Amino acid sequence: MGNIVLIGFRGTGKSTLGKRLAKKLGMGFVDTDELICEETGMSIPKIFEEKGEEWFRRVEEKIVSRVCELDNFCIACGGGVVLSKSNVEKLRKNSKVILLKSSPKVIFNRIRGDANRPALTKKEELFDEIRFLLSERKNFYESAADFVVDTSRKGVNSCVKEIIDWLNCVGFL
Ligand code: S3P
Repeated sequence: MGNIVLIGFRGTGKSTLGKRLAKKLGMGFVDTDELICEETGMSIPKIFEEKGEEWFRRVEEKIVSRVCELDNFCIACGGGVVLSKSNVEKLRKNSKVILLKSSPKVIFNRIRGDANRPALTKKEELFDEIRFLLSERKNFYESAADFVVDTSRKGVNSCVKEIIDWLNCVGFL
């Protein structure tokens, strides 16, 4: 059958939609960030603080290799997973890759004050970081995706419906 992989920036709804989608389709669900925390015994902020982003990305690659071996799973990926070409190649092999997109303002409102999301740049303002990274990562996200859903203004149910309609359309379901 294969997997459904959800990619996209922080706060675009990967975990929320992924869980709902998995339940609705009778698939398993995994979140790469959760697996990284289980594997390392550390929270994401602690990893960034004590080990740094490069170390985090290496663990992330290892986890991606592992989740790619799954079947019939919905896989929610950390926002930076697409920065590695080998992650994208592995994820695309046995999965439909769906990009969740939202506007910078919506992302800002969803993630501000979330202590579980360490800074990824030296920018003082979170809004500036979001805008900067979205434009830096735009091509990575878009070229990795088979389908794109804008989650800015739609509720969870209508996003899930949009994804299921598309999966039916391409013969995945
Ligand atoms: C990151 C996104 C986070 C997490 C880490 C790095 C990124 O995942 O993997 O903080 O580089 O965008 P979420 O997108 O689930 O918040």
